Amino acid sequence: MKIVFCAPHKDFQPWLDDIVANIPAAEVWSWSPPDEAQALRSDEPQADYALVWAPPTEFFSAQKNLKAVFTIGAGVDRLMKLPNPDGVPIVRLNDAGMAVQMAEYVCHALIRHTREFAAYEAQARHAEWTVRAPIDRAAWPVGVMGLGSIGARVAQAVAAFDYPTFGWSRTAKSLPGISTFAGTENLEKFLQSVRVLVCVLPLTHDTENILNFVTLSRLKPPGYLINVARGAHLVEADLLALIKTGAMSGAALDVFQTEPLPPDHPFWHHPEIRITPHSSAITLRKESVMQIAAKIYDLEQGRNIEGVVNQQVGY
Ligand code: GLV
Repeated sequence: MKIVFCAPHKDFQPWLDDIVANIPAAEVWSWSPPDEAQALRSDEPQADYALVWAPPTEFFSAQKNLKAVFTIGAGVDRLMKLPNPDGVPIVRLNDAGMAVQMAEYVCHALIRHTREFAAYEAQARHAEWTVRAPIDRAAWPVGVMGLGSIGARVAQAVAAFDYPTFGWSRTAKSLPGISTFAGTENLEKFLQSVRVLVCVLPLTHDTENILNFVTLSRLKPPGYLINVARGAHLVEADLLALIKTGAMSGAALDVFQTEPLPPDHPFWHHPEIRITPHSSAITLRKESVMQIAAKIYDLEQGRNIEGVVNQQVGY
């Protein structure tokens, strides 16, 4: 079996080693675009399976025999923008150690905000010993947008801290302890029920710019945003405008319209915006390769696998 790895900015050797450790019979290599002298290379080795992250456009025109393409991330939005090989399933990771990281990140951001840890840190800087009032959890309803394997874990982690927890997804989902809403027709009702909005949605045509002046204005004021999905979900200027009016109190953002966030971006020095560099959930190599190897094995046995992207819907 032949497996090609194509993730231009990653150190490929550990990935190749882990693939071979899981599938000893595999012939593996890392793909790089042919240089000009080889532009018409006719001996391009053809793989059965590909593991990719942000592959260049030429990758798919060079690989003609793929039986499936596995992304080594949760989101497939960038891959959906490439001309994908016809009829070849694209498979995303299912959790693979990312859901717990996201849950941890979101709970940290939420608790930091509601329990006023920034204020405690500020008072500690000048040796001030003051206990702040306990929070009223009922005043902090949290809404999680996107209830896939990651969003569900996030919502359940939030609910475990007794925050009233709501969820919204494209199709109806039912999760113990979470009040769920589905579809655009129920988006407004969902937003009006929550104060802290957490975005874990996949990025598609339908969800691009979904966090905007109108939707964020519907939150119970002052709202708070935690975005761990994609920068393109948020209209950044609208968030700034709503913080200015007091309708939003701030945001914890891990993703941005432009990444890395440009040095002169107003978010960097905004006192109410906390920034992390797209690091809320990092792909875990060993877990991911193990999951992909198991799926390749299932496909070879003619079995169905989880995580096949619906290319019409975009995730
Ligand atoms: C990272 O953003 C991912 O989609 O895994």
